[in-house]
Amino acid sequence: MLQNQLLKEPGLQEEILEGLLSETKRLPSKLFYDERGSKLFDLICMLDEYYLTRTEIRIMKDNIHEITSFIENPKTALIEPGSGSSIKTRLLFDNMKELPVYVPLDISEEHLLKTAETLKRNYPGLKVIPIAGDYTKDFEAFTGAVPQDFKKVLYYPGSSIGNFTHRELQHFLKIVAQFLGHGGGFLVGVDLKKDPSILHSAYNDRENITARFNLNILERLNREFGSDFEIQNFSHKAVYNHLKDRIEMYLVSSLVQTVHIAGHKIFFARGDKILTEYSYKYNPAEFERLTHECFRKESLWTDENNYFGIWYFTVR
Ligand code: AVJ
Repeated sequence: MLQNQLLKEPGLQEEILEGLLSETKRLPSKLFYDERGSKLFDLICMLDEYYLTRTEIRIMKDNIHEITSFIENPKTALIEPGSGSSIKTRLLFDNMKELPVYVPLDISEEHLLKTAETLKRNYPGLKVIPIAGDYTKDFEAFTGAVPQDFKKVLYYPGSSIGNFTHRELQHFLKIVAQFLGHGGGFLVGVDLKKDPSILHSAYNDRENITARFNLNILERLNREFGSDFEIQNFSHKAVYNHLKDRIEMYLVSSLVQTVHIAGHKIFFARGDKILTEYSYKYNPAEFERLTHECFRKESLWTDENNYFGIWYFTVR
């Protein structure tokens, strides 16, 4: 039976078809995160090769008092787009006496509400206002959720920001700055440029979890969209693009084939690929240049290898 969850998201059908029917085939990265994909992502975060998660947590632990000093205030609303299981956010709450209001936003409603309930139980003083939705689409829709006269701080960890192209990033930053308003805060975790061989391993792990995570997009389309992708006829590919400073993730067709989806035929030659993700890597000066127009840098924390950076900015 067809589980048509995807069909419920307004505009998503069109976005998927447009991507698959265009000359350079692509699928939106947010499709990774169904229940199975979210579990695979959690496994990725525990891989030896995937240094991002443990490095960011290390940086947070090493600087937790400085970091929380920016948000420890009952008149502050901490807003987290793509909150998932709110694991890193707990580190913040565990180290604050005065808790902010917490507004998690996530595309997966069931998971969001479960996490919100658990958080309320674990932090009795915490006010949680969960909002289900796609923050890449309509950020302003979340404005109403935050109590007025509260200072807003956006928490955006995990280098999720790396999924945006530079152009998308500029747009996102403008919308965020507008949403937060003058004096608002932006706490953001960003993966930094490093030896490409380390990057390559992080996205091509020995256990092939990343490959399963990538291929799950096709299984999901089959489940929820009624397409007929033959999973064994596609393979995972992740390469570092030196000119663009980003990991590019693809699904590569291993033979000539035609796939059916929503009344359309998608033709693949051998070696044709679908782009599923960009993961941009920055050096600190570059990231600060991109944010400079809208944000003032207050602090940057990094690890000893400079693998990862956490910034706190305020809106200009
Ligand atoms: C969640 C977007 C930060 O780009 O590293 C992990 C997703 N993709 N392995 C990343 C991902 C492949 C991840 N982000």
